[in-house]
Amino acid sequence: MPGSHPMPHSMLTYHIITFGCQMNVADSDWIARSLQDMGAAPAPAAEAQVILVNTCSVREKPEHKLRTALGRIQQETGGRKDVLVAVTGCVAQQLKETIFSYSPQVRLVAGTDTVAGIPGNIAWLLAHPDRHLCTAGFSEDMEERPAPRAGHNGPVAMVNIMQGCDNFCTYCIVPFTRGRQKSRKAQAILAECEAYLNAGAREITLLGQNVNAYGKDKTGDGTSFAQLLRMVAGLDPALRLRYVTPHPKDMTHEDVAAFADIPNLCPRLHLPMQAGADRVLKRMNRRYDSAGFVQLVDTLRQARPDLALSTDLIVGFPGETEDDFVQTMEMVQRCNFMSSFSFCYSDRPGTRASTYLDKIKPDVQLDRLQRLQALQEDLSTQWLTAREGQQTEVLIEGQSPRQQESADEVSWQGRDPYGALVHVPLTDPNPVGRTVPVRIIHAFKHSLQGACLQ
Ligand code: SAH
Ligand code: SF4
Ligand code: F3S
Repeated sequence: MPGSHPMPHSMLTYHIITFGCQMNVADSDWIARSLQDMGAAPAPAAEAQVILVNTCSVREKPEHKLRTALGRIQQETGGRKDVLVAVTGCVAQQLKETIFSYSPQVRLVAGTDTVAGIPGNIAWLLAHPDRHLCTAGFSEDMEERPAPRAGHNGPVAMVNIMQGCDNFCTYCIVPFTRGRQKSRKAQAILAECEAYLNAGAREITLLGQNVNAYGKDKTGDGTSFAQLLRMVAGLDPALRLRYVTPHPKDMTHEDVAAFADIPNLCPRLHLPMQAGADRVLKRMNRRYDSAGFVQLVDTLRQARPDLALSTDLIVGFPGETEDDFVQTMEMVQRCNFMSSFSFCYSDRPGTRASTYLDKIKPDVQLDRLQRLQALQEDLSTQWLTAREGQQTEVLIEGQSPRQQESADEVSWQGRDPYGALVHVPLTDPNPVGRTVPVRIIHAFKHSLQGACLQ
């Protein structure tokens, strides 16, 4: 069995292409740092010896996207046989060995529960140029990954707390690609958070497909999600804490109270609503209704009046009538989301909804999507404009692409506690990781302009 092997090349280079959610982003980040520990350096695809494609299958044409990515890699590398391509993530989990037939350069297919083995398996494959490897089984526990030595020096960190999902929303492929829900032990999570804090992180996002069901499975250690939040928040009073994604049906009183009682829990919540009509919610198997969702939103805002909410929405779910859709629009207005991701429903293989017969025509779906997105644009603009004149704190993450030509100060960017992107000119030549007091002076379409108050 392939294990940990030293890298056979002295100047090994890698390139990672990432699709999908924040869990994929976090996985890619861990793989990158592990490869760096083994002496590898990042490089453009054309020059890399190892190329990873971390895939997502949640919406339309994931296989097509993978084939396109692999085709481009062949082109950019001149189809060189010594380039090792690895396909990871949800499409890898789904299609397994089939992916070897997509491109002769693919020699590793690694599923969502075998990420920890990827660096070792890459080293083994480099030493065995005639071999292929597919690792796509599900494991019982949430795998612990060795902490990479290559330090994470960025101010924002993401920490997996659970993986998989047992909800089986009828449209969703995630329960099939990430498997059953499994929770990581609280001590392991705390240790990783502490390591990030020691390495300079100032903000931590706890990640999972259904984070607030944390602990409610075989591998849970008795710690509830609300308890975990308190433990992580307690590591450092200056730490900013966020989490994604919760399920409305699993929001407990304690989870709501956390927004009132934990000062460093950011006043921002991404709370997927999916649809506004009860009939549609029921057919989606969401297990809440519109009245329950509104009540949850109201109690959250009682706990934290300035809470900024964002959401995910699906339009054109099978059987969705114009009236059902209008109810989604009304709910979006009622909940006053600061932003939302909205998608046309698409069939995913193996899901219950894919067998429903009353599919909505693509032109009707698109028309609804455009109307919904126009409404959201208005709400987002109102939310951003209302911020003008307000004072806030911005955790600086890097240089802003919005540089003012004439100014002698460099413009930087970061996020405020609501997760809004703020551009701010600073005299400090090295402000990354600093939290600066800022006054919002202008709202752009999707971000804010701030002026430093120091
Ligand atoms: N675990 C999270 C995220 C799931 S995937 C949650 O429960 O919300 C992210 C989003 O993709 C979903 O919230 C949903 O809005 C969208 N999505 C999932 N399957 C889809 C499908 N078949 N068609 C269109 N959108 C889909
Ligand atoms: Fe998919 Fe529903 Fe699970 Fe979210 S809660 S990952 S939408 S099945
Ligand atoms: Fe995509 Fe898998 Fe995440 S399907 S959204 S990468 S869990």
